[in-house]
Amino acid sequence: MKIQNILALGCGTMGSQPGFYYAMHGFNVTQFDISEEALAACKAYHRRYVEPFRAAFPSFTDEDIDAGLARISYSSDLEVAARDIDFVTESVPEVLEIKQQVYADLNRYCPAHTIFATNTSTMAPSAMVESTGRPERFLAVHYAVGMWDSPIAEVMKHPGTDDAVFQEVVEFVQSSKLVPIKIEIEQPGYIINSLLVPWLSAGLSLVVNGVSSHQDVDRTWMICAQGMRMGPIGVIDQVGFEVSCNIHRLKAAEEPDNPQYQKNIDYLEEYFLSKGHTGALSGQGFYSYPDPEYLEPGFLK
Ligand SMILES: NC(=O)c1ccc[n+]([C@@H]2O[C@H](COP(=O)([O-])OP(=O)(O)OC[C@H]3O[C@@H](n4cnc5c(N)ncnc54)[C@H](O)[C@@H]3O)[C@@H](O)[C@H]2O)c1
Repeated sequence: MKIQNILALGCGTMGSQPGFYYAMHGFNVTQFDISEEALAACKAYHRRYVEPFRAAFPSFTDEDIDAGLARISYSSDLEVAARDIDFVTESVPEVLEIKQQVYADLNRYCPAHTIFATNTSTMAPSAMVESTGRPERFLAVHYAVGMWDSPIAEVMKHPGTDDAVFQEVVEFVQSSKLVPIKIEIEQPGYIINSLLVPWLSAGLSLVVNGVSSHQDVDRTWMICAQGMRMGPIGVIDQVGFEVSCNIHRLKAAEEPDNPQYQKNIDYLEEYFLSKGHTGALSGQGFYSYPDPEYLEPGFLK
């Protein structure tokens, strides 16, 4: 089977990106969300992604970009959106019950050949596999926010994934100019978050505990880990505070004797989320966007 028609489910911080990226690389994409507001916001994000995408892929002409945008449609009717779909990339909220319901609906409406790929950040695919009704055609494909700058796809099996489906997905992401990272055994957090989460949490804890300013935490990292465009606090802005809080909640449950995770959550809620500041996408995180201080010439001086 050749993957050509893609359904991108969930139009938030993450879900708005793979749809855009695949459309730019020649695939037909339907963006689905239950919220009309989220669909409208997604259209606006897609226009905002053009500039960073072009910086990463300078060979794309104006015509290529227009053709890419024209390959995206937006829908809040799953039954219609699921018709003729070959590949689903799911980025609905990180809540097991929501994902399970979504997979049960997808299984009802999608053709039998459709491959389902969850973009969950923290769960094992086997946690939701039963609801898919098609364990052998289900796996995880996890992207990094800012896909054009960090073009990887972590392709992860669960024990029931068909090897041929796994290989097909690896080749598909490769054909879209993403580097496939093959993960053979379920690892919640994949490779990226297994490395990243302790680092983000350490950076945030330094700020929350009043050890240093968010600028100095980031500066330290950016100067010493040469070539890094941002430090841990800049990355937390990009990831978004809701996802960051979810990750901290999971860590708090894993390490009930460590109060720091809850302290970090309380801080993000009090100083940001309660004011509607959810990170870079909302225009305000620790830094203000679209022109954050860490990109200013002189920030590292
Ligand atoms: N933000 C990140 O850095 C990041 C990176 C990789 C993976 N992820 C994963 O992507 C998923 C989504 O994260 P996000 O940051 O985009 O969340 P988000 O809250 O920004 O967006 C979630 C979207 O899903 C929509 N939604 C809710 N219920 C739905 C349903 N039943 N059907 C369709 N859409 C529904 C919401 O309206 C919203 O637009 C999570 O599983 C997260 O772990 C996030």
